Amino acid sequence: MSQAPVEWQPLIEAALQARQRAYAPYSRYAVGAALLTADGAIVTGANVENAVYPLGICAERVAVARAVHEGHTRFRALVVATANGGTPCGACRQTLREFAAELPILIVDGQGRVVLETDLTELLPYAFSPTDLPQG
Ligand code: THU
Repeated sequence: MSQAPVEWQPLIEAALQARQRAYAPYSRYAVGAALLTADGAIVTGANVENAVYPLGICAERVAVARAVHEGHTRFRALVVATANGGTPCGACRQTLREFAAELPILIVDGQGRVVLETDLTELLPYAFSPTDLPQG
């Protein structure tokens, strides 16, 4: 059975709102992320930095951790909001790949304007995934 098309506008608004709650006093680069789960929930995240710089965590991985902890392990779409349309870092791409193979992704700027329409296979080609492991 084919899925209904993704409704992007609520996800864009959720990502923009999430971005407002970024804790980024060091980089001053606020990021918001909004995941649409397979069962239609929207789960958001924002980056959370730390005085010990390497401990900061990206918006996308906050969203993934929140979603999984709330019982969502299948994702349908992702919106990432930054000031200038930055794309998810490599660590976030791999984290997302754990839960979705062909995730459609929209990158928007601080006003919610679409900067890039892409998907996870484009951002992370030839990915290592759970099925590469013997028990996968
Ligand atoms: N950041 C994200 O939240 N997501 C990304 O995919 C790229 C980078 C955050 C990490 C750090 O808090 C700030 O943006 C600057 O790198």
